[in-house]
Amino acid sequence: MRRWLTRRSRIPAVLRLTLAVILAAGAVAVLAAPSSEGQTSSGAGVPGGPPAGVNAPSKSPEPPAPGDPVKTFPDSPALRAQGYTLYQAGCSSCHGIALQGTPGVAPSLRGVGAGPVDFYLSTGRMPLEQPREEPQRAPALYTRGQIDALIAYVASFGGPPAPTADPAKGNLALGLHEFTLHCAGCHQVVARGGLTVNVPVPDLLAATPQQVAEAVRMGPYVMPHFGTRQIDQHDLDSIARYVLWTRHPVNAGGWAIYNLGPIPEGIVAWFMGLAALVIVARLIGERLA
Ligand code: HEC
Ligand code: HEC
Repeated sequence: MRRWLTRRSRIPAVLRLTLAVILAAGAVAVLAAPSSEGQTSSGAGVPGGPPAGVNAPSKSPEPPAPGDPVKTFPDSPALRAQGYTLYQAGCSSCHGIALQGTPGVAPSLRGVGAGPVDFYLSTGRMPLEQPREEPQRAPALYTRGQIDALIAYVASFGGPPAPTADPAKGNLALGLHEFTLHCAGCHQVVARGGLTVNVPVPDLLAATPQQVAEAVRMGPYVMPHFGTRQIDQHDLDSIARYVLWTRHPVNAGGWAIYNLGPIPEGIVAWFMGLAALVIVARLIGERLA
């Protein structure tokens, strides 16, 4: 090995030069090739990236289109009364005793309807500890019965019905297309999340189809909300189906590198390329001492 590394090359100089040019051209072609489809980078104006200016928190949720399926939650005077008690104890300090909101602290909950309440409580995002922090997914603090009570109480102040999604009615290819277009810029193409909008974007490994539908229509935190003209019910069903599929992706390209996306893939490619270059340099090079 030592001798191989230090001996003079026996290949004629002209041949070595030709080989070097061919290899260099090949390397440039490989490095310049477009990366695999769907791995859009994020950034304002980029498809799937954060749209400029529409990220104000607490946008009102988009209503389902007429005829779209909706999710109904239990409702009764007793449930509303229980919800009132829970609300006063757990939510009113930020959202106000009559849901009117507190300027600079938390938005009004009048007219948000059932969807956002179900989303924020079933994903454990509310109640927040600090009004300034990003709501994060956590184990739900309330039982399903208590969540239903809070939904019944808050939804009694009006708001659109909650959306829903049925992955069985969706189309996987359409789901990939819509997800790449609207979601992948932030959530990454196989929904592993990231840090794309200066805030942590969650992976979607735990979200249920119901929570996907609610998130799409309400747009939690800096996420935009999408109306039925951008994402109709069939698109929504398809996105939900695709999100479920991403949990067990088929890695047709081979080694997935944990599905982390283009940056780690690029680093691995660079290391492999570097090793190859050292070997090539040795093959065509000549020691000058
Ligand atoms: C601008 C970036 C951005 C885009 C685009 C975006 N999201 Fe999000 N999404 C977020 C952020 C940030 C959160 C976390 C919100 C929070 O903390 O309350 C989130 C949360 C979610 C959640 C809740 C995850 C969980 O497990 O709790 C779901 C589901 C979701 N997004 C689905 C989607 C879908 C589907 C699309 C495309 C239609 C989409 N998002 C587009 C940024 C984005
Ligand atoms: C420490 C203060 C705080 C507490 C306590 C709290 N929230 Fe919130 N809540 C917030 C803030 C801040 C936001 C805005 C977050 C955002 O931008 O996504 C919010 C947003 C929401 C939203 C979304 C509103 C919209 O217009 O999109 C719902 C629904 C909600 N909270 C329900 C509740 C419920 C129900 C409780 C009680 C179980 C609760 N919150 C307790 C601070 C709080």
